Amino acid sequence: MTLSRPTCSYLLISFVAIAKCFSASDAQILNTFEEFHSLRNGATDITRVQSIDVVKAADESTTPICNLAMMMPFFDLRPGRIRLLENGVFQAMAAVMLAIEHLNTGNGTLVAEVEGLDQRCPIKFNLESFDSGLYEVETVNHVITLVSRQPGIERVPCAFLGAARSAVSIPSATISSLKGFPQISPISTSSKLDNPRSFPLFGRTIPSDSGTSVPAILYLRNKLGVKNLVIMYVTDAYGDAYAQGLRKAAEKYAPDMKIQTVEFPFEITPEIVTRTVKRVKETKYHYVFSIMFSTAHYDAFMTEAYDQGIAGDGDHFWMFSDSVSTSIFERTFEIGSPLHLASKGCSRISAVAGIEGDERYDAFIQSMADLNNPNDIALLQSVHPQPPEGFDPIQIADDTQTFFAKTNAAVVAFIYDATIALGLSACQAGGQNEAFFDGQQLYDEFLKCDFLGVTGNNTYDQVTGTRVTESARFSLLNVVEEEPEIEGENTVRLKAVVSDAFPNGSWEEVVPIRFNDGSTIPPPDLPPVEMDMNYIGWALRLTGWLSAVFIFISTIYLAMWTYKNRNKSVVLQTQPIFLYLICAGCFIMGIGIFGAGIDDEIASPAVCNVVCAMSPWFFCIGWVLAFSALYGKTACINRFFHYPVPELKIKIQKIDLFAPALGLMTIVTITLLAWTARAPPDFKRTIYEWNSFGQPTKSRGLCAYDGAVPYAIAIGFVFLISVEIAIRRAYEARKVAVEFAETEYIVLTLVTICGIAMFFILLWFLLDHDPAARFVVIAALIFLVSMSMLLLIFIPKIRFKTQVKRQTKENTAFGGSEGRINMQHGGANVAITGLDFSTNNGQSTIDDDPDAAEPTKRESAGMIVLAHPKEVDMLKGEFKSLKKEYDELRRNKSNRPATKSERSLDSNKSE
Ligand SMILES: *[C@@H]1O[C@H](CO)[C@@H](O)[C@H](O)[C@H]1NC(C)=O
Ligand SMILES: *[C@@H]1O[C@H](CO)[C@@H](O)[C@H](O)[C@H]1NC(C)=O
Ligand SMILES: *[C@@H]1O[C@H](CO)[C@@H](O)[C@H](O)[C@H]1NC(C)=O
Repeated sequence: MTLSRPTCSYLLISFVAIAKCFSASDAQILNTFEEFHSLRNGATDITRVQSIDVVKAADESTTPICNLAMMMPFFDLRPGRIRLLENGVFQAMAAVMLAIEHLNTGNGTLVAEVEGLDQRCPIKFNLESFDSGLYEVETVNHVITLVSRQPGIERVPCAFLGAARSAVSIPSATISSLKGFPQISPISTSSKLDNPRSFPLFGRTIPSDSGTSVPAILYLRNKLGVKNLVIMYVTDAYGDAYAQGLRKAAEKYAPDMKIQTVEFPFEITPEIVTRTVKRVKETKYHYVFSIMFSTAHYDAFMTEAYDQGIAGDGDHFWMFSDSVSTSIFERTFEIGSPLHLASKGCSRISAVAGIEGDERYDAFIQSMADLNNPNDIALLQSVHPQPPEGFDPIQIADDTQTFFAKTNAAVVAFIYDATIALGLSACQAGGQNEAFFDGQQLYDEFLKCDFLGVTGNNTYDQVTGTRVTESARFSLLNVVEEEPEIEGENTVRLKAVVSDAFPNGSWEEVVPIRFNDGSTIPPPDLPPVEMDMNYIGWALRLTGWLSAVFIFISTIYLAMWTYKNRNKSVVLQTQPIFLYLICAGCFIMGIGIFGAGIDDEIASPAVCNVVCAMSPWFFCIGWVLAFSALYGKTACINRFFHYPVPELKIKIQKIDLFAPALGLMTIVTITLLAWTARAPPDFKRTIYEWNSFGQPTKSRGLCAYDGAVPYAIAIGFVFLISVEIAIRRAYEARKVAVEFAETEYIVLTLVTICGIAMFFILLWFLLDHDPAARFVVIAALIFLVSMSMLLLIFIPKIRFKTQVKRQTKENTAFGGSEGRINMQHGGANVAITGLDFSTNNGQSTIDDDPDAAEPTKRESAGMIVLAHPKEVDMLKGEFKSLKKEYDELRRNKSNRPATKSERSLDSNKSE
């Protein structure tokens, strides 16, 4: 049996009236709602003045009444889908009634501005509710019916509350605005409704999607550090506007964020789903902001995304707009099913009415719970719109617990604030004009609203009438598993929990968000790339180090050879200290090669820094040691050259060798100290190539000699000058024939080193940026410099020593007479006379009998000058005069027969 609507209402009202008499009235909250409802219903004298119905009672008293027409979806009324909706709209209607009660009685418990309103404002509020049914046609039908009602007789609304879906609000707001009725929606978020030309009297207590975009972008950019975002959106009014809002918000709040968009039509086919997901995948981005509708799209897209590997793989993060309802996540899934894995760790951002812990919001929820008493329930029940054909009205009393548990749906608090906003605006508008106002005046007052409602600060955009983003609250829901998987069960329930809240302009963490992989660390926003580190590499490193080892072995061997032969003339006459210094210098430079082969592949950055700072020390100190030996020697020979009295032997004092070494060492050490202290070289890894996503793909780690230029120039200058002086001196002294042709060898060594150094300095600048090449250059330079020093200085001596051995034997065979040993050195015919002025015992200076128990005693060790240029000149002059004499003698001889000796001279000459 179905009752017609008036009968039903009548019965209910009678029931309420009776119930009111018998029950304790303190339990009832909505005390006056019914009173003003019946006042309007039972009135016979009603005058419509602008937006107000003026009701004249029997006692001639008048009451201005503002009718609020609520149009929200109680049932889905779209053809073919008719069903009861459980989205909090029944509870929202209760909230409207509570708000009307508070407005009518001036109860400021929840909103301070309402306190005493009944004293200040004569206007009372009524409610009529209609089912918009999520259906544009149904809603437009209601609006047209309502605005065409007969004023003064039928209830003409003074404002509309609603609707829910933006797609429904858009046509209804077009008509209501056109007819001069303000329409305030608690929950329509499409940015399209922000157009004041199409919807001049539309307002809302919820921010639009472009408003929600701001916290969304702030969250992604500031909280998760996302720089690459792909937006996948449905191309309808909602999706287009939302995606546009995200782009605009990113432009403003995250200008460095790269955004790609992939759109798809509302009506999807498997091909569209596959293609869309493929395009999302092609961006390679890991963060997806998806604007879709839960029932129409979610399962198809997320299954496909899982199959294509861009969801549920632990690396991707999906964020949804509020068009994906939480119920789509809060389901029971088969463990390991694509939807289970893809849904886990997802998030959803939405404007929210209240945030846990907010006093005012909690008070509102409590006030709603207070409606849970038989009288109020009966009253609520009485206002429900008629259910569609074939459906029974819901019975709140049957399950009060379920009903009142849903008062936390966002729409409930938003519609409460919407009602309060309309009420306050009506009283404001009416206050200026004996309680009367038209729609435009009401809307203008609505724009001016600024009150602290149950959803926070209510301020509206002065142009669009939309809730200002900063005055609204947002929350981020995170989809997590309800409880750990139970052993033996193969299903798991997911739930959405608030992980972050945006209470007043910035995000605050509630609980750490859990990502798809179960961790709380945001995945990188791009696939990781293998960076080419440009390490030196083991092959080159080992080759370089082997060359260093070769230097070590050579220097140690040669030092030992020197030590062993320290008393042999071949060593003694070149000063062992000179040889030791060269060995030590080369050894230290060899250590430098080891250092140069260390990079962050095998050592920590701290170690690399130390190595970088120390390398110049090894190279410079090693060089100074080796070079100053050569230099000291050259200087001595040169001094001898300039010595006024031709002496065939000079002794090199140790101080002569050390003075230039000390001088050079001091200068270089001071420079190095200053360098290390003021611009310490450190190891730097620099990125020099990026891919199209801006990810680094190539880097190199090098010692950064920033600020080293002045020091390097200073040291280089000192080296250059000293080498130049050494070469010039040695060149000057080249005519001084020194035993073992040392002068020539020193010149040869220095010139070789200069050549090598120049070549490698050029190479250095050409290959500056490649660590491996740099290492090769350093290792090869040091190796060649060290080896040319060692070889050119030592080999002749070693060879000479063996040769002398042979020669001595030969000489002994010829009767041990002192003779000349002619050695061929690179074309230079060096005569070694074996003259030694310091030897007293007449024994050969070239003593290399290793078995000699007591080696030859010598007062001094030193080079032996074989021929002094001045002596040579002297001899030349002597030779000339002798020749002259001889020629004269020959001329005289032509007159008499030659003596025997003269004949032999002649025959000698002709040979
Ligand atoms: C004011 O409203 C609150 C919340 O609905 C209610 O608890 C309280 O009883 C009301 N006060 C009066 C005086 O009606
Ligand atoms: C509401 O706005 C006022 C100023 O308009 C401000 O002082 C107050 O702090 C705001 N309250 C909240 C909760 O944002
Ligand atoms: C914003 O919220 C935080 C914490 O909820 C609070 O400490 C702060 O005072 C609030 N700011 C404003 C302006 O209300």
